[in-house]
Amino acid sequence: MDKPVIQVKDLYKIYRIGTNKVRALNGVDFSIEKGEFCCIVGTSGSGKSTLLNMLAGLEKPTKGQIVIAGEHIESKNESQLVNFRQAHVGFIFQSYNLMQNMTAIENVAMPLTFQGVSKWERERRAIKMLKLVGLGKYMRHRPGEMSGGQQQRVGIARALVVNPEIVFADEPTGNLDSNTTIEVLQLIKKISREKNQTMVMVTHDNYLAGFGDRIIQIRDGKIIRNVDNREQARRQMEELVNGTASAPEASPQAENTAAAQTPENTTAMQTEDGAQQVTDAQNKPGSIWDEVNETIKNGGDIQS
Ligand SMILES: Nc1ncnc2c1ncn2[C@@H]1O[C@H](COP(=O)(O)OP(=O)(O)OP(=O)(O)O)[C@@H](O)[C@H]1O
Ligand SMILES: [Mg+2]
Repeated sequence: MDKPVIQVKDLYKIYRIGTNKVRALNGVDFSIEKGEFCCIVGTSGSGKSTLLNMLAGLEKPTKGQIVIAGEHIESKNESQLVNFRQAHVGFIFQSYNLMQNMTAIENVAMPLTFQGVSKWERERRAIKMLKLVGLGKYMRHRPGEMSGGQQQRVGIARALVVNPEIVFADEPTGNLDSNTTIEVLQLIKKISREKNQTMVMVTHDNYLAGFGDRIIQIRDGKIIRNVDNREQARRQMEELVNGTASAPEASPQAENTAAAQTPENTTAMQTEDGAQQVTDAQNKPGSIWDEVNETIKNGGDIQS
């Protein structure tokens, strides 16, 4: 981790509905370093998706600056933004957004068609990427023939196949059960770490945000907390892998005690139990982790 790859200065997004103004982002400043796994956390309606969409150049800010990989996003036109996204950015969506009539290989290979990669090479890289996410046996399956967790792993493979510098993920585990949530989160973290990619993940779940190297907490369009969380994230992951996860409701990430008891923290509470089961799964022969670890050991770099 070294220099900032994302810099946001005095960012505003104001939506006008009739005579009503909604300040979805109300003066936001922060930066994210290269290689950081940054979690943006906040309750529903706090402005998380708005912020992510601005960063990815999907929406124009009302005011302010966004500098990504040295380029000013806010001053780009539509076609410049398309080029920028293809060159630097990968997305993981809550609802996977896979093409239902395509196999896993075809879905993952798709972003490479925009880069003029040959069909043979596209397939080769897609297969390597699918093995990296532990889906070697499901490469010819269509989304309807896979579980939610498997579909999201296809979504991850598709986002990462172009080897993007930055990956944006909006509630990537929002549709998954607690065990699968942890599994998918570990996978995202492991791969982005291996490739020194910068990852920006939006979540409403304080426990999940606790895995971030940096936590940016947002409320009513303003940042109310921005902390370097590397040490705690390492510890939280260690506790998870060793099966000694402490009660998530005791986590220092909870905004306050009342917040820890709101329904939005239900997943966090369920994950304590999930943690043990994922640890068991990681130790069991034949789990996805064998394939993931093996692929990484064999030089998981899909570009080679
Ligand atoms: N296109 C839009 N037009 C008008 N208001 C909008 C629009 N998009 C978002 N908003 C408003 O901006 C605020 C922030 O919305 P945003 O979608 O960023 O929240 P969020 O934190 O992602 O919430 P959630 O966790 O529910 O996804 C909300 O008050 C929302 O109603
Ligand atoms: Mg949202």
